[in-house]
Amino acid sequence: KVADLKGMKQGKLRLAVVTTAKYFVPRVLGSFCQKYPGIDVSLQVNNHQELICRMQDNLDDLYILSQPPEDLDLCAEPFLDNPLVVVARRDHPLAKQRNIPIKQLTGEAFIMREPGSGTRKAVQNLLDKHKVKVQVRLELGSNEAIKHAIAGGLGISVLSKHTLVWENVSGELTILDVQHFPIQRRWYVVYLGGKHLSVVAQTFLEYLIQETQHTPELAMLA
Ligand code: PGA
Repeated sequence: KVADLKGMKQGKLRLAVVTTAKYFVPRVLGSFCQKYPGIDVSLQVNNHQELICRMQDNLDDLYILSQPPEDLDLCAEPFLDNPLVVVARRDHPLAKQRNIPIKQLTGEAFIMREPGSGTRKAVQNLLDKHKVKVQVRLELGSNEAIKHAIAGGLGISVLSKHTLVWENVSGELTILDVQHFPIQRRWYVVYLGGKHLSVVAQTFLEYLIQETQHTPELAMLA
């Protein structure tokens, strides 16, 4: 126990998370670091593909992502929903409609995340499945930039609902009620199968799972 405590005080925690997880992980880290001062944290924010590369190089203790790859030996624990929703500017013609058939997105001006993004892959899979072809106007590697592009009238997009939780342009944006959305995804906390987790990493893993069950803003998303 004493050794554990000592380990924790001196420990370093290396985290890597997908871009949509950056909306809550720093908050969880805040209270974690308050509880365990002296823990040194590095937090990398990358897209899905970049995270897989980091895993292959064994660069971090823990990873947070949706859709953990099946061809790697991983321990993966789901802990939070990550629904993907259609986001538009409030004055978009579809904003007042309910239960919009997905086919109605055909030809819509669309802002797409970059190749390698897990969000992009999930959106593309759903659109392909329903043979819907949107008109990709712009490709952007940032959820924040996408929100501003939507507000600027460049088109609609599909984003994790988490990107909207602490939204201060919320007056300008709205979620469209399109059939087959939200795309239901979950976040997993993941580590490499053969890896012996440090006390710090194990403690954070447990803290993360516990905390995310008790944050009202996150519960609202489910
Ligand atoms: P992304 O990941 O940042 O690569 O889009 C989000 C996700 O896969 O849910």
